[in-house]
Amino acid sequence: MTMSHTPRPTNDREIMHSQPWLHQQGLEIQAYGTVRLFPIALSRDARQYSCQRLNQILADTQILFSLYKKHHWLVRGPTFYQLHLLLDKLAGEQLALIDTIAERVQTLGGIAISDPRHVAEITRIPRAPNGCEEVPAMLSRLLEATELILIDAHEAALRAAEGGDLGTNDLIVSNVIRTDELQGWFLAEHLVNTPIVIA
Ligand SMILES: [Fe+2]
Repeated sequence: MTMSHTPRPTNDREIMHSQPWLHQQGLEIQAYGTVRLFPIALSRDARQYSCQRLNQILADTQILFSLYKKHHWLVRGPTFYQLHLLLDKLAGEQLALIDTIAERVQTLGGIAISDPRHVAEITRIPRAPNGCEEVPAMLSRLLEATELILIDAHEAALRAAEGGDLGTNDLIVSNVIRTDELQGWFLAEHLVNTPIVIA
């Protein structure tokens, strides 16, 4: 860490005691993809593997959250209000998942993926158009993204358990899989073409 470019107050005693040290720069002290040695009864290999799998799920979940917000804003038509509220609720659940997954990565000694530009580099969820799609296509896109995460989560949970990382297994099953399965149901039911007025 260097402070050489930060002007140091010298005159006023009060300023000396309360002046923030601005524009600080420092070295990167832990590289992405590495894990520190934490004494939580898990091998370095197990923790590193779990962090890698969790970061993929984390990146895809961050994109899914963004898609929920995009569609919460852009949805239109006769079901606007219902979908506007529902998509925001589901976005909120994804946001909670993001924090849970990220803090599991930190618990394992790793680095949680966070910058949206980094997230965009590793996500496997297809990019949506910048403009607006028709509402059924929005919902279908959300459903497909959800299943993509579920496919990955099922496999990651099994592998984490095989490596002895039961905490990560539990988090993926209890949080990611259960949340995304339920959200998949809510989305899929909106894609059933049922009559509204005449049976
Ligand atoms: Fe809103």
